[in-house]
Amino acid sequence: MNLVKHMAIIMDGNGRWGLKHKNSRNLGHREGLKTVEMVMRYCIKKKIKFLTLYAFSTENWKRPLKERNYLFNLLEIYLKEKLERINHERIKIKILGEKNFSKGLNKLLDFAEKKTMKNTKLQINLALNYGSKKEIVYAFNKLKKKSRISEYDINNSLYTKNIPDPEILIRTGNTQRLSNFLLWQAAYTEIFFEKKLWPDFKNEDLNKIMKKFSNTKRNFGNV
Ligand code: FPP
Repeated sequence: MNLVKHMAIIMDGNGRWGLKHKNSRNLGHREGLKTVEMVMRYCIKKKIKFLTLYAFSTENWKRPLKERNYLFNLLEIYLKEKLERINHERIKIKILGEKNFSKGLNKLLDFAEKKTMKNTKLQINLALNYGSKKEIVYAFNKLKKKSRISEYDINNSLYTKNIPDPEILIRTGNTQRLSNFLLWQAAYTEIFFEKKLWPDFKNEDLNKIMKKFSNTKRNFGNV
């Protein structure tokens, strides 16, 4: 049976869900937070040690200011309300991406990382202002003085240093692309494209993916 240490998710479809059900993209983001909570609980139950969530991409800056501010506010309120509980549950928060938000949010993200850094139950990697190409450029710049660069060096210079590559990557929202997410790390990842929008994604959908994954023969280029 294949073990899952790391699950990565592109949480797509909030905007469409919000427009359909509440006539507001932003209310779709708020609803999407409930699915985030469900997935966190699922990972703890299944002893999955790393969960990476694509919460805001380097390309998402193109969205209207009102939507960006709503998303950042949602994150700020969520962390202020839930950080104590997250820490109590021994969850570690790690941010993947450069923190270039408001002073207040940057400080809060730093605080959340520091406060939870020793926790070992589950590590949640929040990909925020994250872009895989930007991450790879960042890694190369860190290594620029080295004459021969190995895969090991690159792994150790990415934002995901010390995080194993994901076995599973899920994208909800009925779109089949990676959108600049974990391009290096997903070289041998099993990818699951889900038709459902993120707020409609449920526990049983995760069960189906886990079952499919455990029945997958992973050859890694072998026969
Ligand atoms: C993509 O859906 C979703 C996002 C860019 C934001 C994801 C944010 C959340 C789930 C809530 C906040 C998260 C945390 C961790 C506090 P979309 O807006 O592109 O949907 P669409 O394709 O229907 O437009």
